[in-house]
Amino acid sequence: MMKAQGSNAIKLLLAPLFAVTAFSFIGSSAAEDAMKNEDTFIDNLLGRMTLEEKVGQLSLYATSFEALNHDPVNPVFKPKPAEERFDEIRAGKVTGIFNGFGVDLLRRNQEVAVNESRLGIPLIFGADVIHGFRTVFPVPLAEAASFEPSLAERTARAAAQEATAAGISWNFAPMVDVSRDARWGRSVEGAGEDVLLNSLFASARVRGFQGADLSSFDTMLATPKHFAAYGAAIAGLDYNTVDISERTLRQHYLPPFKAAIDSGAGAIMSAFNEINGVPATADPFLLKQILRDEWDFDGFVVSDFNSDLELVAHGFAADEEDATSLALNAGLDMSMQSGLYNDHLVDLVRQGRVQESQIDTAVRRVLRYKFRLGLFDDPFRYFDKKREETLIGSQPIVDLARDAGRRSIVLLKNQGNVLPLAKDIKRLALIGPFARENEHLNGPWSIFGRNDESVNLADGIRSALMSPDSLIVVKGSGIEKAIDGGIDEAIAAASQADIVLLAVGEGQHMSGEAKSRADITIPKPQMELAKALKASGKPIVVLLRNGRPLAIPWLADNADAILVTWFLGSQMGHAVADVVFGDYNPSAKLPMTFPTASGQCPIYYNRKNTGRPDVPERADRFKARYIDTSSQPQYPFGYGLSYTQFNYTDLRLDAADIAHDQSLGVSVTLTNIGDRTGEEVVQLYVRDLVGSVTRPIRELQAFQKVSLAPGKSRTIRFDIDPHALGFWGPDMTWRVEPGRFEVFVGGSSEADLGAQFVLRGE
Ligand code: BGC
Repeated sequence: MMKAQGSNAIKLLLAPLFAVTAFSFIGSSAAEDAMKNEDTFIDNLLGRMTLEEKVGQLSLYATSFEALNHDPVNPVFKPKPAEERFDEIRAGKVTGIFNGFGVDLLRRNQEVAVNESRLGIPLIFGADVIHGFRTVFPVPLAEAASFEPSLAERTARAAAQEATAAGISWNFAPMVDVSRDARWGRSVEGAGEDVLLNSLFASARVRGFQGADLSSFDTMLATPKHFAAYGAAIAGLDYNTVDISERTLRQHYLPPFKAAIDSGAGAIMSAFNEINGVPATADPFLLKQILRDEWDFDGFVVSDFNSDLELVAHGFAADEEDATSLALNAGLDMSMQSGLYNDHLVDLVRQGRVQESQIDTAVRRVLRYKFRLGLFDDPFRYFDKKREETLIGSQPIVDLARDAGRRSIVLLKNQGNVLPLAKDIKRLALIGPFARENEHLNGPWSIFGRNDESVNLADGIRSALMSPDSLIVVKGSGIEKAIDGGIDEAIAAASQADIVLLAVGEGQHMSGEAKSRADITIPKPQMELAKALKASGKPIVVLLRNGRPLAIPWLADNADAILVTWFLGSQMGHAVADVVFGDYNPSAKLPMTFPTASGQCPIYYNRKNTGRPDVPERADRFKARYIDTSSQPQYPFGYGLSYTQFNYTDLRLDAADIAHDQSLGVSVTLTNIGDRTGEEVVQLYVRDLVGSVTRPIRELQAFQKVSLAPGKSRTIRFDIDPHALGFWGPDMTWRVEPGRFEVFVGGSSEADLGAQFVLRGE
């Protein structure tokens, strides 16, 4: 039951309403009872609401800007001082607040809603908890490199524990947009280019945020975003037009959303972009046909920040009223920040341009999830000061951040086994703009983390060394600007050292929302530093800082070792040190292809063959190839080394052919032929050789992460389910076509151990 927080007449009015939650229905199952309770409760409440109050339940606003302790993550749009916002809450015009946090602040807002608005409907508090709350985990793209959805589930769970302890019960995550174009800055927020990897991480993160029971005090509502195909923006330019076939949309961009919904996600955020001429925020094909008719989604759809208002700029709506009716009628339930629904929906109903029944449907969906969060039972359930003080930043969560960090680091090169380094190394130089700084560790969308609490590279590496004095730290260059005398100082440091750790890449401000880059190379001053250090002759180990794949052909050729260290969050310095000194043997694989040149983008492994496929080793002009650079990636999807080596042998298929209702067993022997225990991501790809629409040259079908001691072998088994071999056919229905398929198993998307089987027609 709702806890009384001050007395007023409204509470009394509501008392019978809230009592309905405890109502019992004789003769039906507990789940049915709960559902009936929920429906009865919502019907009852809806029956008491004015049209204005209904519209208020569909209107979400950012926290008052004076409450922010970070740079705004959104454009500043109609900011309101707290007192004005309180008046709106009192008037029942606000369904929730986002990106405010802290028990005291949110409790104050909730008290106004519950005690001072006519119906006392609780607010919902949302936030962008993208990769951790106060304890920051690796950026999602990095975490996807672990190929361990269970890890993402654990970090999402921990993020939910911290965020809910600060009063937040609704997360604007996970981002499940497939991103095939590394120029797109928001690649950093998702699980990369592959549909299976994205789908598995989407499900895992939803499970982690929502837990087993949404109404528990430490779980929060998940919001897969941005629906849909936001990552397919032309030229990798954020917010840009998307023009793709319905087949590509269904085959590559929608499945992670479906997976997230199947895992129980209760909200969806619409995307900023248009698809094929219709902005996603007002697209009935997406919001009604796909979400409701095909997927049976019972949650609510929230716009992105002002994306309903932006229908005007798109040239899709004539004015604000038009935008409002187009969005609502298309199936957009809740408006974020623009205020459009509050400003126009009541009039639009009066004019007959919007049906009140459509508003009721939207309000029902919102109330349903407020109900399932338990907010009607106790609107203050997320406000426990003691929990806030003790749980946030607690040791198990910090330890998880370190483990997640090291599991996300990808080893791209290790010439002469220069890594791992010995902890008793005499002289080690750590050089580069990221050598000792705290501003670029957490990565974009870490608005609740604190830079000064994160462990930088110098501190992490020094604390692992036997003698802390053996580390020399020199900046050498800024991120985008040279430093006077920086290179000389760096060379002097390198000349005293046995090995150079070179921390270069892109800054946090170069990756994330509105951070598209046309040239995804490392800025020139840093490359000049790298080249000067190479001339010093000392072995160079690159610690790459990045939120997306970068084009690093010179480093690929000239560095002795390369570790992709992304933005790893609170424990970055320790996580990198764990890998550099071999306390953790790297096991991650690239979730996105690294190009040799920016102009190759978008480049991804599951491309089509074309009629003139390139054969790299043959100099044939009339092929799908560039005349000025390679058509091959620098490092392919799925690639990543270990300090040990793995060998794949004995690929066997249980049958040469199978019927459509049989699955096919595939086995391979994995042997650790090196001298350390290591983990390998065993990947299985399939190629459908002939289809009624052309099929990709490879598609990831399954993977397993396996740990093996040196000298040991293990048989790894997979089952291929023919249904998963299907695709969206010429008539836009899902079909599984008989024919010949190729299977490849190995440690990257270029695995060459292959076999064939036939899927029979019957
Ligand atoms: C982003 C969303 C985010 C929202 C609220 C938008 O700019 O696209 O991902 O949830 O802002 O901060």
